[in-house]
Amino acid sequence: MYRKILIVLILAVACKPKQTESCALEPALYQLSDFPIGCAVDLNQREFNPTYARLLGQQFNQLSPENIMKPEHIHPQANYYHWSDADSLLSYCQKELKSLHGHTLIWHQQLPPWMEDFKGTEVEWEAMFKDHIQSICRHFKGKVRAWDVVNEAFNEDGTLRNSIWKQHLGAAYIEKAFRYAHEADPDALLFYNDFNLALNPKKRAAVLSYLKNLKQRGVALDGIGLQMHISIAFPENRAIESAFQDFSKAGFLVHISELDISVNPYGGTFQASADIWERQAQKLASVIGLYKQINDSKQYGITFWGLSDADSWIPSAFNREDYPLLFDGDYQAKAAYCKMKESL
Ligand code: XIL
Repeated sequence: MYRKILIVLILAVACKPKQTESCALEPALYQLSDFPIGCAVDLNQREFNPTYARLLGQQFNQLSPENIMKPEHIHPQANYYHWSDADSLLSYCQKELKSLHGHTLIWHQQLPPWMEDFKGTEVEWEAMFKDHIQSICRHFKGKVRAWDVVNEAFNEDGTLRNSIWKQHLGAAYIEKAFRYAHEADPDALLFYNDFNLALNPKKRAAVLSYLKNLKQRGVALDGIGLQMHISIAFPENRAIESAFQDFSKAGFLVHISELDISVNPYGGTFQASADIWERQAQKLASVIGLYKQINDSKQYGITFWGLSDADSWIPSAFNREDYPLLFDGDYQAKAAYCKMKESL
């Protein structure tokens, strides 16, 4: 009887689709890489979850704040900037010798209500916009490696999104944002950041030609953030390659700025299997391989949008089960993590 139970148990363990993979955590990801390896940081997790903090500190050498530098958090009232959370992340980065990637100055989401409801002439709007950008850039002057100056300004059809910024300042707000940021911190690298630039060639072409034009006109614009919220099913590797090549050949630094690889992109019931984790690992290996093909001088770095599957924004934002990151919900390395180490 006991033998039977034992055999059933052994079979059950052996057949359970395993998500975690055993490969050493050291050397760490960033130690294997020629370019920075980043992670979006959740402030509460870093401060209150020791497992999270240990793994984050060990594996990554560049951090992006997931939320605490966004307008609603850092500029919650017209005459008040809330610096303490971002300052605490900055001092952690300085102490641990990690670079800090500022995210994000101008966006249409996560705005404080006072900003969305702002009433004023075009001149007053521009003064408010300039004060927002320059107060933040001056506060962190010389301390952040780069800023995502403008985030997600384009629609999927390649036209400009009708954000409050476009409505009140016109299309020129993009150029103005870069000029103001550069004036306040001339040493910070400045990025335009957006999603679906690999998946959607129409959007990619529109963004590329817009940015080239700004650059030709002398705007301090150093790079493109390709968010890369992708999946095991799409985009095709050829599209990813085109995105990396198009922007790097046009002279822009390329930041894979918000990488996650969905295993359940269409939603619905999710069935875990060893094959799924392998496909996720393979997709990541392809992304890294293609990124390494661009000129070294254009490789700004790769940032994952979260540490473990328990920290990912995807399940709540899209209301679906998903496991898009390198570590599982118990902070154990997945096949993708091990594959990444072979690919770097
Ligand atoms: C997401 C965060 O991960 C969530 O915690 C938050 O609730 C919403 O924003 N594009 C971006 C990121 O540029 O700032 C977004 O981050 C994800 C999409």
